[in-house]
Amino acid sequence: MASTLRTLFHDPDYYVKSFHCYAAQCDKFSLLASWGERVFGDAVVTKIKTALGDNEELRVLGVGSGSGEMDVTMLTKLLQRFPLINNRVVEPAEGHIAMYKALVQSKAHELHGVNCDWRRQTIDQYEKAGDLTKFHFVHAVQSLYYAEDPDRSLMYLYNLVEPGGVLLVTVNSEKSQHCLFWCFQDDLFKHVTTASIRDSLDRRGIPYAEYAQPSRIDVTKCFDPSSEEGAQVLDLITHIIKFKETASAELQAEMMQRLAECSEAHGDGAFVSNDWDAVVVSKPVD
Ligand SMILES: C[S@@+](CC[C@H](N)C(=O)[O-])C[C@H]1O[C@@H](n2cnc3c(N)ncnc32)[C@H](O)[C@@H]1O
Repeated sequence: MASTLRTLFHDPDYYVKSFHCYAAQCDKFSLLASWGERVFGDAVVTKIKTALGDNEELRVLGVGSGSGEMDVTMLTKLLQRFPLINNRVVEPAEGHIAMYKALVQSKAHELHGVNCDWRRQTIDQYEKAGDLTKFHFVHAVQSLYYAEDPDRSLMYLYNLVEPGGVLLVTVNSEKSQHCLFWCFQDDLFKHVTTASIRDSLDRRGIPYAEYAQPSRIDVTKCFDPSSEEGAQVLDLITHIIKFKETASAELQAEMMQRLAECSEAHGDGAFVSNDWDAVVVSKPVD
């Protein structure tokens, strides 16, 4: 039965739909905006060491930027210190790029000075294309899971950072209960947690700082067999397309039992933790 399972990104349109349903259940975008307001300035903006000329742009590379909410928050903060920004976006889902472009248009008054450069590619396609541009700030927010080889891609991104620049990677904490539902991985989804990132950097003696962010997902509707939204949240937490139609009865029973055991009641709802960490690497100035 396991061979019929496919992880979400095998159908990018389905992925985009599930992602936004899940984002609503964990209040993702307001949490990201608040993280951008509270933490990003000190953790990243002040750490970028560069002396740009008068008309020189700060070069930013975003990988797996989604519909752009987090990127726009970060760009707005960066603009306070760097008035000209070239923002290269590497994002394979057409639906996400369209939403990101619409967001940029609607926020044009806040993004004066930002030039976007869209690349509808995966990180591996971008790497294979061989562009050698280096960036002052590179970020992969919740996207390294989808790289062919996350450890290699992490190092690739590190190598794209200018001396004095910063790499920001966020992934789920290994302590997050969300990871307990990752029951299958394939070529388009790998089980990456902060522990994997730490291991990659420690092995190479690369120093980093970590910022922990508590978060939780509302899984209440997953317990309602007739809820379409519940089925979508289940798809996102297992990262499997149409989990209730494609997973074996045993696997479904196992996941539902796990959900019952580890979810916590708050008010009328049931929640599982979805904590994530931001790992910030500052590249030494040569
Ligand atoms: C969990 S979403 C995160 C989106 C955004 N960074 C955020 O936090 O709101 C992951 C994003 O990675 C993109 N993605 C999927 N496969 C990818 C790949 N191989 N390389 C780069 N991005 C990928 C998806 O389309 C999606 O937009």
